[in-house]
Amino acid sequence: MNRPFLSKILWATGSILFFGCSPTLPRVDSTSLLSIRATRPWATIEGLGEGRHLYASRCGSCHGLPKISSHSPEEWPHLVEWMAPKAKLDTTQTRQLLDWVLSVR
Ligand code: HEC
Repeated sequence: MNRPFLSKILWATGSILFFGCSPTLPRVDSTSLLSIRATRPWATIEGLGEGRHLYASRCGSCHGLPKISSHSPEEWPHLVEWMAPKAKLDTTQTRQLLDWVLSVR
């Protein structure tokens, strides 16, 4: 096996790991930030990004990643509060995760 081939494989593997992380979850943009700020004024782009990341990394290990659209904006706060201890989220992480869920719901 020659070197350029090996480095192509490494690059491909790396980009799958890097870009392949839950591409289907809605991304955070300035529109979602503006709409969530109406009800959750503390939200920031960074916090929403962190919430999205937490959702992707902590909420799919016991069951599949729940679809955001499968629960209403009224149900989500209770579900997140119920699941937060299971996912070992602290209060800041719980808030960021819920901010993100509601910003894309
Ligand atoms: C330690 C395991 C575990 C982790 C981590 C976990 N859950 Fe759960 N989740 C459960 C269990 C157990 C149930 C209850 C299933 C039942 O009784 O139907 C559940 C149920 C749910 C439900 C309701 C099921 C439905 O009908 O849609 C939602 C929504 C949910 N979890 C979201 C989340 C979210 C969001 C996170 C991340 C914050 C999360 N879960 C992390 C174990 C976990």
